[in-house]
Amino acid sequence: MKNTSIRAASDKLIFALDADNYEDALSWVELLSGHVGMFKVGKELFTAVGPKIIESIKNKGQRVFLDLKFHDIPNTVARAAQAAVRLNVDMFNVHASGGSQMIKETVAASWACADKLGLPRPVILAVTVLTSLNKADLAEIGFSKDAGEQVLHLAKLAKNAGVSGVVASALDIAMLRAKFGDKFIIVTPGIRSAGAKIKDDQKRTLSAYEAVKTGADYIVVGRPISAVPEPLEACRQIVQEIADGLAAK
Ligand code: C5P
Repeated sequence: MKNTSIRAASDKLIFALDADNYEDALSWVELLSGHVGMFKVGKELFTAVGPKIIESIKNKGQRVFLDLKFHDIPNTVARAAQAAVRLNVDMFNVHASGGSQMIKETVAASWACADKLGLPRPVILAVTVLTSLNKADLAEIGFSKDAGEQVLHLAKLAKNAGVSGVVASALDIAMLRAKFGDKFIIVTPGIRSAGAKIKDDQKRTLSAYEAVKTGADYIVVGRPISAVPEPLEACRQIVQEIADGLAAK
């Protein structure tokens, strides 16, 4: 039972593979394989090293979240998504503000591509409002709603267009869970435990325990694992917090 719950907890932990070169990225994958549920490949790493890091992660039997936040005309995003499906990524995301048509075409193209190749259909998430934007930033780019309303508006649009869930800040989990029900997938970065020693740029944070208890399906964690002296120990502690959060739900 204990092993089962630790396994279920580690499946919910996504490690942010924020390296700028292939060798460093691969050594994190080697260290953390089997201890986390997925590796997140973002813009920095993908731009620096390209698809070979995804192939290497998949060859080790691990899962990949391709965090490139696609946002372009529908045809371009649909085709980029098909390229992601061909790499057999398990999860990827698009900007909800690309609009319904972009999302619908992307979901349809991805499903068709996966089915044709006999691959599992990846989870497609939407990014609503970047957490770096405050009310003044939103007004500057012409959004009149406040951040919370804009998150809900874009999450609803994206859900109706076919995404399976959203990337959401810790502070929006409860609102999204209440509004969109249990099946809507919520992935939350900005995780910092109460006793965390590192001080950095993340402001609106929750602990792994609180995020999972509040309703996050997956949490994304980078520096609390990568920037501490004992990464594997930090990883194990976060998995234990997730298990405790699941048990407290
Ligand atoms: O190191 P840290 O745990 O802050 O890493 C969090 C990861 O999640 C980074 O890859 C970061 O780009 C990403 N992210 C975030 N906040 C968001 C969206 C994504 O920190 N709102």
